Amino acid sequence: MIQNGATARRHAGLESSALLPQAARAHGRAVATIGARLAAVLELAEEEIADIGLAAALHDIGKAAVPRAVLDKPGPLTGREWRLIRRHPGEGERLLRPSFADRPTVLAAVRAHHERWDGAGYPDGLAGAEAPLAARIVAVADAYQAMLETRPYRAPLTPAAALAEIEANARSQFDPDCAAALRVVVRA
Ligand SMILES: [Fe+2]
Repeated sequence: MIQNGATARRHAGLESSALLPQAARAHGRAVATIGARLAAVLELAEEEIADIGLAAALHDIGKAAVPRAVLDKPGPLTGREWRLIRRHPGEGERLLRPSFADRPTVLAAVRAHHERWDGAGYPDGLAGAEAPLAARIVAVADAYQAMLETRPYRAPLTPAAALAEIEANARSQFDPDCAAALRVVVRA
């Protein structure tokens, strides 16, 4: 099959997810599924739903630029280590820019996936709708899926318990409309 330039570059961008460990790739795929479902509930256009799926799958690609010892550290992080972690959204945007120059929604969502509704997130401290909707959707999908997964320090939550946690943090951490959409997705 002959690929045009944009398709070939995008393929290269998706392959960059191989930079992440297997568990992170599996997490990305699950976040992509939930993110696309949230986007559909919010009645976004087909192209936006596709962009959100891509951004959700690749949202943590910038962690490839953070030392593994910092990512895997079991105890509390030092200030310097925390600064390294907080660089991963911007690093992800930078890494994906050559492959997704024609899909600004993907790049913006990757950069803003750790912003919070109350403006206390990173890297840019965007509040409310200042963060792109695609990023607010990925944030909810990422946090929900993470709670369903086992972590060394806790058992997985049930879908109902994870949904309750997202709803409890709507308007502080999460976009309330995205939290409401998650209720529809989880109950479906
Ligand atoms: Fe992240």
